[in-house]
Amino acid sequence: MAEEFVVTPWDVKGEIDYNRLIERFGTRPLEENLLERLRTQAGDLHPFLTRDIFYSHRDLDWILDEYEGGNPFYLYTGRGPSGEVHVGHLMPWVLSKWMQDTLGATLYFQLTDDEKFLFRGFDTLGESHHVGVENALDIIALGFDPAKTKIFFDSDLIRWMYPLVLQVARRITFSTVKAVFGFTASNNIGEIFYTSIQTVPAFMESAVQGRSVPCLIPCGIDQDPHFRITRDVAPGLGYPKPALIHNKLMPSLKGMGAKMSASDPSSAIFVTDTAETARRSIMNAVTGGGATVEEHRRNGGKPEVCPIFHHYAYFFEMDDEHLQEVENTCRNGDRLCGECKEELAEKVLAFLEKHQARREEARDRLDDFLLKDGDLPELESA
Ligand code: TYM
Repeated sequence: MAEEFVVTPWDVKGEIDYNRLIERFGTRPLEENLLERLRTQAGDLHPFLTRDIFYSHRDLDWILDEYEGGNPFYLYTGRGPSGEVHVGHLMPWVLSKWMQDTLGATLYFQLTDDEKFLFRGFDTLGESHHVGVENALDIIALGFDPAKTKIFFDSDLIRWMYPLVLQVARRITFSTVKAVFGFTASNNIGEIFYTSIQTVPAFMESAVQGRSVPCLIPCGIDQDPHFRITRDVAPGLGYPKPALIHNKLMPSLKGMGAKMSASDPSSAIFVTDTAETARRSIMNAVTGGGATVEEHRRNGGKPEVCPIFHHYAYFFEMDDEHLQEVENTCRNGDRLCGECKEELAEKVLAFLEKHQARREEARDRLDDFLLKDGDLPELESA
């Protein structure tokens, strides 16, 4: 029997059974009819959608009903600035960018420097804020439209958010967060409070406009537990429940059940890696290949359990035809793991070079994107 897996916003362990996760979390699979409706509105579908990488949702059908009826939605996503960004983190941001381009959606992007302070990532809020600024460059580098993108730090916007945070906090009990996150008496009280801060941006555009504006949250499935709580408190506050669209998680280069972690630089491709580091991480990665070349040639490889293949499929090879060829030649044993890694390394290095140039250009453009205290209209009643 497969080892029991764990998926929470702070801990991902074991080999994830994504269908079981849908049952556990009570979300819905992203079905064909919804994808077709999305295709009609967007004019196309991003490969993340056709490849079942974004695979689960809550109320996407409602978002489409509203959109088709002339009531567009806004996007909300975020990042807990704990260190360098890896390519897994980029996945929900790339889909958000696609939705901004194709459906015209405004994006609110939350940088939770407070979260990474409270959850003991850093000893000072300043450190977490500093990392957040670096992470913001990676977000901007993806090409978001500054007129439709608002990136903000919790610590900068807290004065504006606070009345709403309080409205949320008083509707969440300790038993709820214990049940949802597994908190115990030894969690600090900031951790217990934190989910109210991650909730507020789901109501932000409604609060700003003074009317119900639908919100869609693209995120990794690990973040869903926060938004179950958000959805529970929304009606009591007079806001619509946010909808979600969830992606599967990019596996670690160390193996499908291992963790991608900034403390182990070779567990992932970090977007700020040097060419040498990225290359080394790829060459040392675990694969789904046979134990020897002979065995591999005879029996072929197993792309479904190969982190290298997942890096192709989830990010670095968006051409379906070539991806199919990679898969076929792996399965029939024609493609050896060494060759496959070389080809991936080329794609990764080309991506890194471009991304790193763009993130440097973004330094001068930070102010075009950052939302500060005072930028939002004061709330009349909260
Ligand atoms: P964080 O910084 O841990 O992750 C940022 C986003 O990346 C997703 N993610 C992944 N996606 C694919 N493969 C992976 N291996 C992988 N690891 C992480 C996460 O699901 C997330 O979408 N508390 C949040 C920050 C946050 C947020 C939000 C996230 C605040 N508001 C709204 C999503 C939506 C956090 O620490 O994310």
